[in-house]
Amino acid sequence: MNSTGRVEFGRISENKEKTVITSKEEIEERLCQCLKNYELPDYLLYTGTGGAKNWLKLDETEAFPVARQLKVLLEKNLDSIVRFIPTGMSLVSVGVGNGEKERIFLEALVKKNLAENASSGKVSIRYYPIDINSEFVDIALEKVDNLPVEKKGIVGFIEDMAALKINWRRPILFCILGNTFCNYEPEFILQLVHENLEQGDLFFFDASLLPTEGPEAQSVKRSVMGTYTSRENILFNMYPLLQYGMDPEDFDFELLLAHVDSRVGGVYRTRKNLYILKDTELAIGEETIGFREGDVIRMGFTYKYTYDQVIDFLDICGFEVLKGFLSEDRASAIILAKKRV
Ligand SMILES: C[S@@+](CC[C@H](N)C(=O)[O-])C[C@H]1O[C@@H](n2cnc3c(N)ncnc32)[C@H](O)[C@@H]1O
Repeated sequence: MNSTGRVEFGRISENKEKTVITSKEEIEERLCQCLKNYELPDYLLYTGTGGAKNWLKLDETEAFPVARQLKVLLEKNLDSIVRFIPTGMSLVSVGVGNGEKERIFLEALVKKNLAENASSGKVSIRYYPIDINSEFVDIALEKVDNLPVEKKGIVGFIEDMAALKINWRRPILFCILGNTFCNYEPEFILQLVHENLEQGDLFFFDASLLPTEGPEAQSVKRSVMGTYTSRENILFNMYPLLQYGMDPEDFDFELLLAHVDSRVGGVYRTRKNLYILKDTELAIGEETIGFREGDVIRMGFTYKYTYDQVIDFLDICGFEVLKGFLSEDRASAIILAKKRV
């Protein structure tokens, strides 16, 4: 540590490896299969070099501040969160993207480790950045190159968590950051995490929220729609079709915010469709996939919950909240939880 209390890190590039559970070819096969079923789930927007570049660009645009606002909230509350993380815990982050939130987290954890083990000067932290896009895993590993932690990147799906977990050493702090939690059916993702965590592990995630219900919610909903229907986000959503040869004039993008029932009451959920306006073909690897005018491709969704609804889902799915942080405008939250005993 230097005189200002900041930890300075030199170049450390050993202890870095990567395991591929899902290959690029498998992802391409899934893309073909989904399109044949008139579906384009959101994870396919992040694939390939183009998908990685597009997400990083979208994340920087003023019109789409979702993940950035969550990062600000994390930075603001870092010290309080880190206090809850026992020394020696491994950090597992699924859907890691460029790994910048994890870098912030790891720096703080290393600092805490060093302060607690001042005599030995040793840090014992393992980091597992995980993503379906191998390029994100590389970027995330690169981002922590000079931190004294052991690193193992994994390319794979969160849905294959049982296979992923063979690779990591417990106890873990399991992270899902960047509003990825809201791209899943809540009980599906919470049950998946619950089944695969053990006592002693922690769960940490963030969510971009609907700040309020009631009459004032109207203007909030308009602003949610504004974010998701921004030109930048629409281009991001169209990318796979454009990449494989469709013309922007060949289809229309529609996004609605629907009110749907759930076990915690009515929640909001985006509904996205691509309407094919002209007979057209996509060339993906060896495959050619044809669409006819009038076809509709169903896309992924994002849930918009209130903070209390997220807490209720955690309770239903067997989690105990250790600490929750809500931004002043109630539009962003980060939550640290564990399996209820
Ligand atoms: C919204 S971005 C968030 C990225 C980053 N965590 C952040 O906070 O900026 C979602 C990330 O999850 C990855 N992803 C999407 N579906 C996934 C899945 N089923 N399993 C693992 N990663 C996934 C994407 O490739 C992308 O990097």
